[in-house]
Amino acid sequence: MSTHFSYLNGTLYAENIPLPEIAKQFGTPTYVYSRAALIENFREYEKACQEYASKESPALICFAVKSCSNLAVLNLFARQGAGFDIVSGGELERVIAAGGDPQKTLFSGVGKTVDEMRLALKHNILCFNVESHEELTRLNAIAGEMGKRAPVSFRVNPDINPKTHEYISTGLKENKFGIPYPDVLQCYRAACTMPNIDILGVDCHIGSQIMDKAPLLEAVDKLMELVDRLSVEGIPIHHFDIGGGLGIAYNMEKAVKVNDFIAHVYDKINNWRQTKHQNKPIKVIFEPGRSLVGNAGLLLTEIQYLKTSPSKNFAITDAAMNDLMRPAMYDAWHRVQTVSQRPSGEKRWDIVGPICETGDWLARDRKLAIEQGDLLAVMTAGAYGMTMSSNYNSRGRAAEIMVDGDKIHLIRKRESNADLFAGESIPA
Ligand code: LLP
Repeated sequence: MSTHFSYLNGTLYAENIPLPEIAKQFGTPTYVYSRAALIENFREYEKACQEYASKESPALICFAVKSCSNLAVLNLFARQGAGFDIVSGGELERVIAAGGDPQKTLFSGVGKTVDEMRLALKHNILCFNVESHEELTRLNAIAGEMGKRAPVSFRVNPDINPKTHEYISTGLKENKFGIPYPDVLQCYRAACTMPNIDILGVDCHIGSQIMDKAPLLEAVDKLMELVDRLSVEGIPIHHFDIGGGLGIAYNMEKAVKVNDFIAHVYDKINNWRQTKHQNKPIKVIFEPGRSLVGNAGLLLTEIQYLKTSPSKNFAITDAAMNDLMRPAMYDAWHRVQTVSQRPSGEKRWDIVGPICETGDWLARDRKLAIEQGDLLAVMTAGAYGMTMSSNYNSRGRAAEIMVDGDKIHLIRKRESNADLFAGESIPA
């Protein structure tokens, strides 16, 4: 857990700000991020890269925008020198609006549309991570129409089990992602014959919340093997994109340390470059999302009612599955902390939202001393929290706050009821 959220005299703080102060000023539910935690997480990557990368194999950290896409967060990372991993035109526009560099931006995803390709080509992004032969054909045509050349990597599906939740495994042969390993050479050969395509790299991303470095390193082996084959065919590769996926501790699990992971990656790559490729330069790209933002955010919510029945105690909060989808969708476990600690009166509670679904829960069977009107903090909600939120039940999306020492910045205002149907109309 981030040390930037901690108790002082029984009250939970974000950096120097007591959370009740945020609830008072901005209401609930509200996402609260610690700027210091975000920077600390980025530094961990940066420091490891400084330690192990070299002039011949520099590193680029491309933040996975989907994990937390607020402009303030993107801007913070852009100013630290980050690149970005995007999966839609919307994410590209965000990166640009936040001051990010399109030339450090990768475009991943299986379903890029014509418009999205045009937008990305117009802004000269670093690379398209192409996921099918059909996508390659379309990209070649669009680039041709625009008088441009599209830089590409192919995303390989290496058929490796990342041992994570099945919904967030992406590198198994039954998943929709990437090009099956046995077919990828064919795609590179085809790309060589296309007039508007530049081959830049190799890419893979095998899943998310991965708690064991072995499958991630196995994927690196597969990519190295692929580059070997490509070099035999005279197809040069300039970068090596190993995706994101490093897991974090939501409870007491042991996560892979960023430094340890990057050390192992570089150990492999440096060895391989020296023994097989005469030290030929190659850039290494990482696409972390969760490990940069997950522990840097929490969801602040107020208990509306306590409802007890003979079999269960429910704490009904003003945050719901539309605000934080992860429990309902993946059975995810998030720590729930009381914002103001009570000395006694612990009972077991299910923390649930007001949405009309039994799946609307945030946490189950938690021992907490709480009363109606208390504030709760749902921890480790910085990644895939706000970005996966919806308007289900016509609920406006939460506000977002960034705390910086003793300053509170409102980085996204709460959606109003009028915002909810602003784009709708009734036929005459
Ligand atoms: N690169 C690509 C191509 C990705 O698809 C993803 C995440 C990442 C990088 C970043 O992965 P990370 O470092 O954050 O693990 N909604 C789910 C997670 C979905 C991940 C999707 N792809 C959750 O809440 O657990």
